[in-house]
Amino acid sequence: MPYPVTRLRRLRRTDALRGMVRETDLRARHLIAPLFIEAGLHGRAPIGAMPGVDRLSIDEAVREAGELEAVGVPGVMLFGIPDAKDPEGTGAYDDEGIIQMAVRALKAAHPQLVVMTDVCLCEYTSHGHCGLLTEAGEVDNDPSVELIVRTALSHVRAGADVVAPSDMMDGRVGAIRAELDAEGFQDIPIVAYSAKFASAFYGPFREAADSTPAFGDRRGYQMDPANGDEALREVLLDVEEGADVVMVKPALPYLDIIRRVKERTMLPVAAYHVSGEYAMVKAAAVAGMLDERAAALESLTAIRRAGADIVITYFAKDAARWLQT
Ligand code: PBG
Repeated sequence: MPYPVTRLRRLRRTDALRGMVRETDLRARHLIAPLFIEAGLHGRAPIGAMPGVDRLSIDEAVREAGELEAVGVPGVMLFGIPDAKDPEGTGAYDDEGIIQMAVRALKAAHPQLVVMTDVCLCEYTSHGHCGLLTEAGEVDNDPSVELIVRTALSHVRAGADVVAPSDMMDGRVGAIRAELDAEGFQDIPIVAYSAKFASAFYGPFREAADSTPAFGDRRGYQMDPANGDEALREVLLDVEEGADVVMVKPALPYLDIIRRVKERTMLPVAAYHVSGEYAMVKAAAVAGMLDERAAALESLTAIRRAGADIVITYFAKDAARWLQT
């Protein structure tokens, strides 16, 4: 039977009708807020390329987490900016490191908050790469995995509820799982950054976390934006190694990947709406070119519609507030 235009429109006549047939919902409970925590900082320090996002002291992070909880955002993803860096990224797996101290403070103040930590070396290495380097300046996979495992364990010992390895070394998910199990942390889930593309949209983050590679780029260990099948293969490897949640990053340019990952794995899928995606909306809004609230909520809804269960976004607090009204 043909589908007349009037029939398509019948269910759009009122808010109640539209609400009744809406396929996707976006709620505060789906959102995770990334927080940048800087050692030695007092108060907050604005991040130029990310208007509205600040680097935080531990005290400010605790305060921010309280505000997030109050609007219904269930969790945070922590990134650390250490006071010193070295070629081995020792600040990442120091039990008294910035993330370890922040996790303890956050869990003490907000026991219900889901505290996830980004597990990577790039914020802690003097060269800004995500692992150790060989003499030739290439990332050395296996010794890097050992340090990534130490970092994850140290976060969990500090009280992290979830670890999220973002380094992209081969075999790190399985290695982290084995170590956590051996140390009695069988209950701690791993959110794997599985399909992580080598993206220009990480630009503002690298300013925020001070993690721009001193030379070269990350194309040796992050994925080519042109490749979808390869993304699926990476995801399936992480699933085999024991990932509990798989992540696609960035989000909006990769909605097709989110959908394919969801259909293929049937696991909870996280999507990281990254710094550049946030900055685009902010910059256009500041210039009066678009409506920030409408553009942000539309973006987050589209990411959910594509198949993401969890959305990690710098809009988390604002979006949660907008969804309340
Ligand atoms: C690296 C990491 C990056 C992001 C999250 N974890 C940057 C990178 O790979 O260069 C980017 C997040 C964002 O842009 O918001 N460990």
